[in-house]
Amino acid sequence: MKGIILAGGKGSRLYPMTKVISKQLLPIYDKPLIYYPLSVLMLAGIRDILIISTPEDTPLYERLFKNGNSLGLNISYAVQKEPRGLADAFIIGESFIESDSVCLILGDNLFYGQDLTKVLNTAKEVKEGAVIFGYPVKNASSFGVVEFDESNKVISIEEKPSNPKSNYAVPGLYFYDNKVVEIVKNIKPSERGEIEITCVNNEYLKMNMLNVVLLGRGMAWLDTGTPTGLLNASQYVETIQSRQGFYISCIEEIAWRRGFITEEQLYTIGKSLKMTEYGQYILSLTDFKKRVIK
Ligand code: TTP
Repeated sequence: MKGIILAGGKGSRLYPMTKVISKQLLPIYDKPLIYYPLSVLMLAGIRDILIISTPEDTPLYERLFKNGNSLGLNISYAVQKEPRGLADAFIIGESFIESDSVCLILGDNLFYGQDLTKVLNTAKEVKEGAVIFGYPVKNASSFGVVEFDESNKVISIEEKPSNPKSNYAVPGLYFYDNKVVEIVKNIKPSERGEIEITCVNNEYLKMNMLNVVLLGRGMAWLDTGTPTGLLNASQYVETIQSRQGFYISCIEEIAWRRGFITEEQLYTIGKSLKMTEYGQYILSLTDFKKRVIK
């Protein structure tokens, strides 16, 4: 399975912060925002990753992650000239996806919680069709909304409805089989001029191949699109990390735990960052490896 991080967009709700820099490079407490979605792909065991961003920002991501080899990943890059919509990722990413299935995550989505890895693996195991997620929110009309029956069969999916049929929003994390590449080619831009991911999902629904996995209240799905969202997410990460002593979305730690890199490689990265708490944390993992941790 391939992974795509969509990290372009205008970030206009964060102006002036994002006037000259990509939203996904802004910090969430102690690391760039993009570390969080990248960690989700890594937890799903996905190692071939395409980062899509704007013409101005793509070189910055290339500087940040290079080819991904130091994390045991294979990272490549592609440019989206205009923010033409989320589903544009599959048009831009066609030659990257080849004949594989694909997981798309939006660069500004932060997930954290018990069972995240299990949930991701469940989604990955679905070999045919699409898997989206449902997350209970108070303000469903600001999101794509999924309606489902008692057996979790999807009935409808609507983009920012004024009268939402459920309080389950669809977060920016989607798993598709290879059909997505053809499906997206037939989707016309919406009134706002975007190739909508909701249209893709509706095509899968028509084929009876759209699955929804509900995320429980124990899972955090945080929105980072506004200044308050950014601040809340930073505070959340700081609170958990200083309370537990475990880091959220430390990509080097995940790479090591997943066996993408060796302990020696982890130690070398930690040493190069040892002047920071982040680096000290990485070094502590190599010291305390016998600690019982998930
Ligand atoms: P949005 O939050 O919908 O848009 P935005 O990031 O441009 O922000 P704003 O509404 O404040 O102008 O985008 C969700 C994510 O998807 C975000 O990480 C940016 C990314 N994105 C793209 O990379 N390309 C696109 O065409 C769109 C629509 C979004």
